[in-house]
Amino acid sequence: MKPTRSVSLKNFNTFGVDAIAKRYVSISDVKELQEIVALEKELFVLSGGSNLLLTQDLDTLVVHLNTKGKELVSSNKTHAKIKVQAGENWHEFVLWCLEKNYGGLENLSLIPGNVGTSPIQNIGAYGVEVKDRITEVEALEIATGKLQIFQNKDCHFGYRESVFKNKLKGQYILTSVTFQLSTNAHQIEDSYGAIQEELALKHIFEPTPKDISAAVIKIRNGKLPNPKDIGNSGSFFKNPVVGKTLFTTVQKKFKDLPYYVLTDDRYKIPAGWLIEQCGFKGKRFGAVGVHEKQALVLVNYGSATGKEVIALAQKIQATVLQRFAISLEMEVNVI
Ligand code: EPU
Repeated sequence: MKPTRSVSLKNFNTFGVDAIAKRYVSISDVKELQEIVALEKELFVLSGGSNLLLTQDLDTLVVHLNTKGKELVSSNKTHAKIKVQAGENWHEFVLWCLEKNYGGLENLSLIPGNVGTSPIQNIGAYGVEVKDRITEVEALEIATGKLQIFQNKDCHFGYRESVFKNKLKGQYILTSVTFQLSTNAHQIEDSYGAIQEELALKHIFEPTPKDISAAVIKIRNGKLPNPKDIGNSGSFFKNPVVGKTLFTTVQKKFKDLPYYVLTDDRYKIPAGWLIEQCGFKGKRFGAVGVHEKQALVLVNYGSATGKEVIALAQKIQATVLQRFAISLEMEVNVI
């Protein structure tokens, strides 16, 4: 398990940005990980690289988590509990669940990245967040090398948030995630307009998890760029949540402002709409740009550096702030 020197990380991040790891090691089991944490004071853990923007070379040891394995912990007539190792690819795991008739993750089809990072930012799409299906997370404490279990409530999940991004940031490495999925009488979430349109087109009135997955895959392929074709990290910003005063002021000026009511005083506004209104949608600036079909997605046309992506992100933030008095927070982890 000797680290390799000077490894390019270009193929290990979905933005396809080049950065060099001075020392790099790929690990395939948790014991190896424990040995590394015992030896190294500092390290950078790389997983699927799908929510990551590298703006510099990395001096610390880069540990690439490639642990694999799926284990059926228990099952009964209605549910199955499955423990999955962190390095499993997310979408392949979702497809595996569908083949086994385990329901609950179909709305999260085609999200790039690995299982181990799914709880960190509580991935979500089309009315489902991964927190709704997680029972517990196993994590290695870097300071002690010990494995700990975090029950769902201990993860303090929120919109694209968890304790691992906040209070415990940098202190734990997630090693496995346990999901509770349905084996029968699946609870289908099809309230999202685009999903209903897809199902109606196919005359499907009682959708199965596989039908929902197929609809989600079609919708995502229609508007989100595939990182294999063009570098990106999905939504670059979070959808901002604003208070009533600001919401009312903006709505007076922009009558067609789309929004979701969260509570009496909290309104979520699609960042993609704000960015599009500022004229960025489909615009290219050298090697970076804003996707033509979804303004929330920044793209790398091939040779962009992380710094160029950040410069564009900051330009967007400044323009949106000036026009709407709304701050956009980056969703992507910038290193
Ligand atoms: N919109 C525009 N212009 C755009 C994009 C969006 O006006 O270019 C407006 C439209 O009004 C549209 C609304 O924004 O109806 C919502 O757009 P969309 O359904 O594409 O969803 P989103 O809010 O932009 C969020 C998640 C996505 C997730 C989708 C579907 C965040 C930051 N993003 O995007 O997650 O797939 O909903 O549930 O919450 C990700 O996190 O990487 C991601 C792709």
